[in-house]
Amino acid sequence: MKRRTAILISGRGSNMAALVAAAEAPDFPAAIVAVISNRADAPGLAKAAASGIPTLVIESQPFGRDRAAFEAALQRALEHSKVELICLGGFMRLFTAEFVQRWHGKMLNIHPSLLPSFPGLDPHRQALDAGVKISGATVHFVTPETDAGPIVMQGAVAVADDDTVETLAARTLGVEHRIYPEALRLLAAGQIRLEGDVCRISGAAERDGVLISPRKI
Ligand code: GAR
Repeated sequence: MKRRTAILISGRGSNMAALVAAAEAPDFPAAIVAVISNRADAPGLAKAAASGIPTLVIESQPFGRDRAAFEAALQRALEHSKVELICLGGFMRLFTAEFVQRWHGKMLNIHPSLLPSFPGLDPHRQALDAGVKISGATVHFVTPETDAGPIVMQGAVAVADDDTVETLAARTLGVEHRIYPEALRLLAAGQIRLEGDVCRISGAAERDGVLISPRKI
């Protein structure tokens, strides 16, 4: 049985589109049953609809600071669609600890940095300002702290001296689109074990890939 999965977005939805595309494979262990946006103007909504995925808007703005009321509406929608797993894809709204606890071990997020480095806003600016030579993206379980939680999968990119926020973001996004479907596949297939703050993957192959940056000085 495919695990019923909702994707929550606030904007462009390119990670959502990558997840939807992956889930079209007959052997993918998750089915995307809903794309929910907290903004009516999220461009990702049209992309999801074009792929035949049911979409729903639950505007968060009218709820103001009342996170619990927004989450109650969200939870009703998730239950209505019998959702088992959640993927956040550029969902720009913080959750209460209660909501996070309710979805413990069932809610993934992607962030465009090698966490725990550079959580929060403007991660590419943070990475460039820190002068790191390797950056990347992280899929992790959601915990009450922003961009924290057990790490499921990471992908790395080399950072060049002439990189800008835009070029680094574009290169990182390519990695995001590869690792997010792979992480959802592992979760939906039951290959992930949570040991406290650490996530273990059963059957993960040993990899000897090494990324050295810069290559030539
Ligand atoms: C992605 O780069 C995602 O990693 C980031 O927002 C972008 C959404 O793009 N998420 C965060 O920064 C979370 N803290 P998308 O709407 O095209 O998937």
